[in-house]
Amino acid sequence: MAVREILKMGNPLLYQRSEEITEFDAPELRALIKDMFDTMAENEGAGLAAPQIGVMQRLVIFSVESNPRYPDAETVPRTILINPEIEALDDEREAGWEGCLSIPGMRGVVSRPSHIRYSGYNEHGEKFSREVSGFHARVVQHECDHLDGVLYPMRIQDIRQFGYETALFPDEV
Ligand code: NI
Repeated sequence: MAVREILKMGNPLLYQRSEEITEFDAPELRALIKDMFDTMAENEGAGLAAPQIGVMQRLVIFSVESNPRYPDAETVPRTILINPEIEALDDEREAGWEGCLSIPGMRGVVSRPSHIRYSGYNEHGEKFSREVSGFHARVVQHECDHLDGVLYPMRIQDIRQFGYETALFPDEV
C-alpha cells in the first residue's frame, strides 16, 4: 500500500496538460494505478487523476460505492480510464456541487453536460466506451478536466457558490 501525496491547488503541475499513455500492461503502470487507488481510498475520494499525485499522464480512476463524502450520491463503477475522450450527447446541462482532493474542505457549484459518452482504454490497452448521466457523468468530466490542467473552481459561474464545507453545509459536518 502506497498512499501518495496529493498536490494542492496552486501547484503549477495541476494547470498543465498531461501526456497520452503509450505503454499498457507495464509494471510501472500497474504500480501507479495501485498507488492511485490507495491514495483515493485513504482520502475517501470519488476519483483521482494521475497529475494530482504529480504524474503527468492521461490516467484517471474513479469509484463510488457508499462514500462518506457523498452520502446521497449515486454509485459509480470502479473504473480505470486512460487517454479518455468525452462527448456531450445533447445540450442539456446540470449544475451540481463538486469537491476535489486537491482543494480540501471546499465545494463549488459547476455546470456540466448532463449526458455524455466517454471512451478510453483500460490498463490492458482495451478500448471501451460508456454512455452515462448524472453523478457518473459529473465525476468523469471532473477527473478528465485534471488531464487538461483544469480545476473545478475555474468552471464556477457564481463564485458565491464556492466555499468551505463547514460554512456551506453546517448540518453535515
Ligand atoms: Ni479533482
